[in-house]
Amino acid sequence: MMNSVSGGSWNEFVPISRIIMTPGPVEADPRVLRAMSYPILGQFDPAFTELMNETMGMLRELFRTDNRWAYPVDGTSRSGIEAVMASLIEPGDRVLVPIFGRFGHLLHEIAERCGGRVITLEKPWGTVFDPAELIEAIGREQPDVVAIVHGETSTGRMQPLAGIGEACRRHGALLIVDAVATIGGTPVDTDAWQLDAVIGGTQKCLSVPSGMAPITYNDRAERKIVARKRIERGLRSNAASLPSQEAPPGPSPIQSNYLDLAQLQDYWSPKRLNHHTEMTSMLYALHEGLRLVLAEGLEARFKRHRMHESALMAGLTSMGLSMYGDPLSKLPMVTCVQIPEGVDGEMVRAMLLHQFGIEIASSFGPLAGQIWRIGTMGYSCRQTNILHLLGALEAVLLRAGVKLPAGEAVQAALDAYEEARVG
Ligand SMILES: Cc1ncc(COP(=O)(O)O)c(C=O)c1O
Repeated sequence: MMNSVSGGSWNEFVPISRIIMTPGPVEADPRVLRAMSYPILGQFDPAFTELMNETMGMLRELFRTDNRWAYPVDGTSRSGIEAVMASLIEPGDRVLVPIFGRFGHLLHEIAERCGGRVITLEKPWGTVFDPAELIEAIGREQPDVVAIVHGETSTGRMQPLAGIGEACRRHGALLIVDAVATIGGTPVDTDAWQLDAVIGGTQKCLSVPSGMAPITYNDRAERKIVARKRIERGLRSNAASLPSQEAPPGPSPIQSNYLDLAQLQDYWSPKRLNHHTEMTSMLYALHEGLRLVLAEGLEARFKRHRMHESALMAGLTSMGLSMYGDPLSKLPMVTCVQIPEGVDGEMVRAMLLHQFGIEIASSFGPLAGQIWRIGTMGYSCRQTNILHLLGALEAVLLRAGVKLPAGEAVQAALDAYEEARVG
């Protein structure tokens, strides 16, 4: 409900409770929301710096890495992507960006803004690259940096990454991976796949609100970052006397101040060198979200995402709906459904939201109006949500005049759950 003004005073905003089945943001775990209401601590308070250390330890487990650096950037996932790219792409660097959906185009755009000379490879939406093609392109193009999306939420596809990191190492390139959608929902094996820098998302499979972007990077990436390091003028002992032109020769400084990983890592190091004011409540949220993910266990969590995906797909197909995209590269936490001929996709979404309190997503660019995207991520990925959605979607489609076998979708999903629990 909209706030209204009466007698000069604004009404308190109390959001409606929704079932959120989009590819993000999804429902935050209530324990995460509770953690956000704790009192503020100063960012150099030992209790807070201990929380920072614990968060870094848990992020290493989440990213499956021994990297020294694993910490969140303050801002949405895009801030993590920009921080990594701005810090690792020097103007003039050759950057290879394989694109198979909207977020690949985003990597292209950011790489260009960083001054990279971008080489793109494109696949039709709904498909992904054969890793052999990418390995061949890395050998041919000799890029300094390769930037690729792991889980492309716009098309619901997942790019296999094994072998690409090894090729990057052989040819001296750094590999940056957008794992915003996949982290915490399906394996992201940073070390085993030799990924140099990875960005995760909070608002998807971690079930933490949007507002922080966990990242990790290894020593190869750190070397490039440190070579570009400049100490902020106001933090130098001889601050006033150093004009900006006196930057030492060598690699160009990182263009962004806020998203400068050289400064951010100093803040996350034992030095705790002041940079920005930390987002205290968001860190409480991330810490609690990570604690819950690791308490469930990564493998158990991946299996849970697969189980609910199967039940959802069983229900949708028994309704006679067709899935979009190459089934071999389906992203486990995003299911893309073709909007049936003659059905107004936006009317269906509006009815689901307003009559049933359930939100699903449409898509972007060439897929706008063509598909619905249903997210099964984190805390939203649970049986009651799947069954409610299937029942509601069936009712709305019947209302829209679609001929479908009424009553079968929920039964098919229940069968899938029984099979999964027996098997
Ligand atoms: C794969 C992928 N990358 C990047 C982003 C950008 O994240 P944010 O909107 O949190 O900045 C999204 C957001 O949906 C995404 O799905």
